[in-house]
Amino acid sequence: MNNSKPTLSFLVLLFCFAMLVAQEPKSIPQVEELLQKMTLDEKIGQLNLLTPGGGIATGSVVSKNVEAKIKVGQVGGLFGISGPEKMRKAQDLAIQNTRLKIPLLFGSDVIHGYKTTFPIPLGLSCSWNMELIENSARIAATEATADGINWNFSPMVDIARDPRWGRIAEGAGEDPYLGSAIARAIVKGYQGNDLADPKTMLACVKHLALYGASEAGRDYNSVDMSKIKMFNQYLPPYHAAVDAGVTSAMTSFNDIDGIPASGNQWLITDLLRKRWGFEGFVVSDYTSVNEMIAHGLGDLQAVSALALKAGLDMDMVGEGFLTTLKRSVQEGKVSEAEITQACRRILEAKYKLGLFDDPYRYIDPKRPATDILNATHRKTAREAAAQSFVLLKNHNDVLPIQKNAKIALIGPLANNKNNMLGTWAPTGNPQLSFPVLEGFKNAAPNATITYAKGTNISNNPELAKKVNVFGPRIEIDERTPEILLEEALKLAQKSDVVVAVVGEATEMSGEAASRTDLSIPDSQKKLIRALVDIGKPLVLVLMSGRPLTIPEELALPISILQVWHPGVEAGNAIADVVFGDYNPSGKLTATWPRNVGQIPIYHSMKHTGRPAESTEFQKFKSNYLDVPNSPLLPFGYGLSYTAFEYSDLKIDKKEIGLEESVNISVTLKNTGDFDGEEVVQLYLRDVVRSITPPQKTLKGFRKVFLKRGETKTVRLTLNPDDLKFYNSQLEFVSETGEFEVFVGTNSVETQKVSFILN
Ligand code: BGC
Repeated sequence: MNNSKPTLSFLVLLFCFAMLVAQEPKSIPQVEELLQKMTLDEKIGQLNLLTPGGGIATGSVVSKNVEAKIKVGQVGGLFGISGPEKMRKAQDLAIQNTRLKIPLLFGSDVIHGYKTTFPIPLGLSCSWNMELIENSARIAATEATADGINWNFSPMVDIARDPRWGRIAEGAGEDPYLGSAIARAIVKGYQGNDLADPKTMLACVKHLALYGASEAGRDYNSVDMSKIKMFNQYLPPYHAAVDAGVTSAMTSFNDIDGIPASGNQWLITDLLRKRWGFEGFVVSDYTSVNEMIAHGLGDLQAVSALALKAGLDMDMVGEGFLTTLKRSVQEGKVSEAEITQACRRILEAKYKLGLFDDPYRYIDPKRPATDILNATHRKTAREAAAQSFVLLKNHNDVLPIQKNAKIALIGPLANNKNNMLGTWAPTGNPQLSFPVLEGFKNAAPNATITYAKGTNISNNPELAKKVNVFGPRIEIDERTPEILLEEALKLAQKSDVVVAVVGEATEMSGEAASRTDLSIPDSQKKLIRALVDIGKPLVLVLMSGRPLTIPEELALPISILQVWHPGVEAGNAIADVVFGDYNPSGKLTATWPRNVGQIPIYHSMKHTGRPAESTEFQKFKSNYLDVPNSPLLPFGYGLSYTAFEYSDLKIDKKEIGLEESVNISVTLKNTGDFDGEEVVQLYLRDVVRSITPPQKTLKGFRKVFLKRGETKTVRLTLNPDDLKFYNSQLEFVSETGEFEVFVGTNSVETQKVSFILN
């Protein structure tokens, strides 16, 4: 037996070699073989993503002659179709007609559930429950794949600090730490551990990058941002998705440093691929390559070449790649090698899905009946919705309501199926959702429940026209506003308690749904005031796809439960919370401003050199003449039916070294009358550092359940990376000095300890 041990230098050499091998993307022999056989035209065909329509077309261009193009190998993937039968037909076109029988990818926007629609992502993020979020993504993948879809245009992880921007509804709010945790959970939920499993699908992180920072909150607008802000505040969730193994990425519509994302080499190649090590493929957003013409970067051939050279692999709908790349090769503007590389990445994704083994792997006519919208999925959607609700105010502890009360259920969203699913639910069916009235009747058969609409969501026919593009979201009643109101007030007078379900229609937020006025529409404000005058206890159940400005309503002697757009189980979940079967635990993940003028407003703002020290106006300090600096409702805010008391905040070390962690603990007591969950939040402030620090920024959280009267010790850890930030050289570093740790129930009500990093 040879007992000689390898020398240290040999081990170091071996390690270096292993690192080198690990960094080289592994080529897949089957893909390489296939590439050898492909003509230039066939390769270009793979870069083309089309939609035959039928889903939501989010641009003015819709693909034409899709069948004919598939047959001649001009299509790499399709989106906007679903169902085993249609998918089989489409896959047949590729397999039976093309020379190399390369299967198609089937994409879709499954943003918050497939047929089992979960709450809008902004709502879901308010659950702060990563297991639940991952599970919602797994259910979405199970359902979508049962219908033949194997590539999901999700997660959308754009940080959004401007609630005017309608797409704030689609993401996880304002914070990069929470946003990163959610990005990881969703990628894991869709992709699972094995992409070839027919119940998993490719995830697609979008929209790379900074789309949430569109100027003035207007959709598709320009973005201009410092690298320091980008790296510290906006990029982390995309990066987290890459670290979690996301297999594709979608570029955004906006420009970054003057170059639209789809043609931005720094973004796609230098940052995403080289710096972050992304090995998947990159798809453009809907015609975003062509839109570089309008951005002012040249004609279709020029912008298509720019996109390919930047590292973009697949062109969504615009067909610039299909129609111009060959000419660009002939003219020496792009190389065939660049096209081969893009094609390779798309084929690798198909290979990982197992489509080369079996192009019909995701097409099983038996699956939809059992896998889609089943009772287990609905149950999870109901729990998810209940956990997404945020109790903003509970005046006189009116909530929860007794199940035998006389309830007047009022409001344009109280008995309304069309607005329950929320934005970007093209695969859901609003008619399968539970409206609030039905939910209340199911939950409280002994209550006396009367219903009246009270008012239209809005009386503005112009607005109705704009938001009714995908269905009747705002229906203007034939009865006059006076008659509608009178009917509601009569019911209110006869009740013990009034529940008014009000807010935004589904398409008042989402894509191309920016607003400059974030208040509850006028018609509904009038209804609320008239109901308050009746003098009965009033609960507002508030629906919206974004933070609203509700200073007047919050000041009224009423209770407010924010429910976003809750999804297919809306009415049941709202009943669960209103009647106390579930104690609300949601916490806001985007700050609610007092008025639009405060925007952008978020918890991790900087101090400035002239911080305002009081809520009173101070001349020559950083504040406003008309409103305080503080928001209406801070990040992390949300009440419960019970009360939690924080005490005994402790830190295990007063000084740590650069590679050490620090443990924090706090005693949490449920001092109220209900069992309940609390999201314990940890914020950090780096007191002195080389670039101006945020006042505080989220660096940890834990959702804990406490029985009534129970006390628990909650422990949180700050790891070395939690203390790091991107410095002016864009290096991810920590700097020695003092750190303050804040722990509490939201970003404002906290207790503090501190430590020194040596
Ligand atoms: C949206 C994307 C979406 C795509 C395809 C675009 O308008 O920005 O988020 O994935 O359409 O439906």
